[in-house]
Amino acid sequence: LTPSPVIPKSSAKSYACQRRTPLKHHNLLLTEALELLSENAELGENEGRSVAFRRAAAILKTLPQAVQRMEDLQGLPCLGDHSLRVIKEMLEYGSSQEVESTRHSEQYQALKALTGIFGVGVKTAERWFRGGLRCPSDVAKSEERLNSAQQAGVLYHEDLSQRVSRAEADAIGQIVERAVQEVLPGAQITLTGGFRRGKETGHDVDFLITHPEEGKEEGLMPKVIQWLETQGVLLYQKTTRNSYLESKDGPSRPPHNMDRFERCFSIFKLDRSTGEGGPLAQAPGGEVGGCEGRAPGSELEPQHCSTGWKAVRVDLVVSPYSQFGFALLGWTGSKLFERELRRWAGKEKNMSLSSHALYDNSQRRYLRASTEEEIFSHLGLEYIPPCDRNA
Ligand code: CTP
Ligand code: MN
Ligand code: MN
Ligand code: MN
Repeated sequence: LTPSPVIPKSSAKSYACQRRTPLKHHNLLLTEALELLSENAELGENEGRSVAFRRAAAILKTLPQAVQRMEDLQGLPCLGDHSLRVIKEMLEYGSSQEVESTRHSEQYQALKALTGIFGVGVKTAERWFRGGLRCPSDVAKSEERLNSAQQAGVLYHEDLSQRVSRAEADAIGQIVERAVQEVLPGAQITLTGGFRRGKETGHDVDFLITHPEEGKEEGLMPKVIQWLETQGVLLYQKTTRNSYLESKDGPSRPPHNMDRFERCFSIFKLDRSTGEGGPLAQAPGGEVGGCEGRAPGSELEPQHCSTGWKAVRVDLVVSPYSQFGFALLGWTGSKLFERELRRWAGKEKNMSLSSHALYDNSQRRYLRASTEEEIFSHLGLEYIPPCDRNA
């Protein structure tokens, strides 16, 4: 059988990092169905199955037109029996029984709602589900012990479940820029994650911070956080030192400077009217933005605040300049694209790629790179721009 003429050559490549995957594509009904099955497998902690469905969805996003017949799929990689069965059913009947019964199942809906709370992972959600909890308000009313992330997650759930717009992301960017310039002039911030890939909305806003003078970025994160705290911009923050030294997928001999890599998972208070951060003139603990009773530590009753300000999830990462290219590539996503890059590096090139470095296991040395283009080149891959990494 010869590949269908509608299939471009690049769609026949089996790693997502070898293909261009745009944000807008022609097979949304099919990809949404496969991604729901992927998500359900993830909620059931079946990682292999989850990745298989996600890869199947990703290949359909590269096609230049809508799939209409099964013959249209000839020559495409990444489509396993199960995915093919779902696609066939959808092409014939317009929907898939497995997808619809999963979509409506109590377990899927509850685990999705519970993991939708900031700070709640699959294991916690599963335990709560077994204990009878089904949604964020059940958690708020329950006696469950919550860690500080989960408390913030429940408290701000209403706002955090709303999408973040590009305009809001830019407003947050200005606040971060100001904070960074205050504490370290010359530092550079870059918008990463979904917004860098061209998405119009996101579940959070991701930033990478560096300084062109190697070493200057050391100790930057605590200072930035402190500045933001004094301005009343932060509703929640947790800074973690880089866990790279313990990570499984990092190179065996990490460079000595790796322990400087820091990240911060935070929740910003974004002023709705001006797009600025929390009211700079107001003292912490006072009435804020017309919303009362929202002070952390108060009763854990979810608060609704339709005016004044909005809680927004923000991720900050600080990278030494020498690792900037790797950090930028690693934090731009998508998650599947990242996964595929690492799989390609390991399986096809005998290299180990992380957000810090690229190690060549055959040559037993690190391959330097200051740009994403150089990293793709080291990996023997055609450069894929961020807007085409939406696998
Ligand atoms: N990432 C990571 N480690 C984490 C969380 C995220 O390396 N603990 C990386 C992901 O691999 C991804 C990037 O950070 O490349 C952005 O992740 P995330 O914000 O979760 O997803 P987005 O693609 O930005 O999508 P969304 O719009 O939903 O935020
Ligand atoms: Mn993001
Ligand atoms: Mn996401
Ligand atoms: Mn993020």
